[in-house]
Amino acid sequence: MSRNKIIAGNWKMNVKPSETAALVKGVAEATAAYSNVEIVCCTPAIDVPAAVAAAAGTPVGIGSENCHWEDHGAFTGEISTGMLLDAGAKYVIVGHSERRQYFGETDETVNKRARAAIAAGLTTIVCIGETLEERDAGKLNEVIERQVNVGLKDISAADCARLVIAYEPVWAIGTGRTATPDQAQEVHALIRATLAKLVGVETAETVRIQYGGSMKPGNAAELLAKKDIDGGLIGGAALKAADFAGIIAAASAAS
Ligand code: PGA
Repeated sequence: MSRNKIIAGNWKMNVKPSETAALVKGVAEATAAYSNVEIVCCTPAIDVPAAVAAAAGTPVGIGSENCHWEDHGAFTGEISTGMLLDAGAKYVIVGHSERRQYFGETDETVNKRARAAIAAGLTTIVCIGETLEERDAGKLNEVIERQVNVGLKDISAADCARLVIAYEPVWAIGTGRTATPDQAQEVHALIRATLAKLVGVETAETVRIQYGGSMKPGNAAELLAKKDIDGGLIGGAALKAADFAGIIAAASAAS
């Protein structure tokens, strides 16, 4: 099964609307040669319109970093999938570990957001991953299986066409400490096997699973060479077009 690699930037709370066009255009220019990779920039919601405008006519897709599950209503500070679509977004990240850690996200709320985003037609990147304490306590498999089973509950085989999973070990995010390619591959295989129990082996084989956590041009090739690693979710290295392009070049070569 060959899965088209997908490299997505997660800008987090780092880029202002006025700085957005330059970064998106820089990414589009630096990656024009890599047409075999799906390229995405997920930006703060307030940057989405500027990012969409800057990406027009390029293969770069634009997404947001979160969405709410309700269509509209009294949810101060939240953004709906309809608003994102109206602004031209095609992707959204849900369940990032920073949302879980600092904003009370649970597997249940991640599931609600993921189902709403997929139903709305957004390509939805669902993040999962264990903390260092969980890994050290021997709970890696248990945590990953729970995050897949609860986070992706009631997602159908048809929904999987718009599902991307990002495996991000929390201890590797923004720390410079990367999972080794073998460590990552082991968890990616577990994620795919767990997903297969929910949607069937054949469908699970089609779902892209990204690795995230200190991925950079220097380590991307060895991670992306692994059988079940189908892309990357990139934080720090997505903030400089040249670094982001270096990872996309590695994904292109690994395709
Ligand atoms: P990092 O972040 O690449 O800066 O480690 C990845 C992420 O949090 O998605």
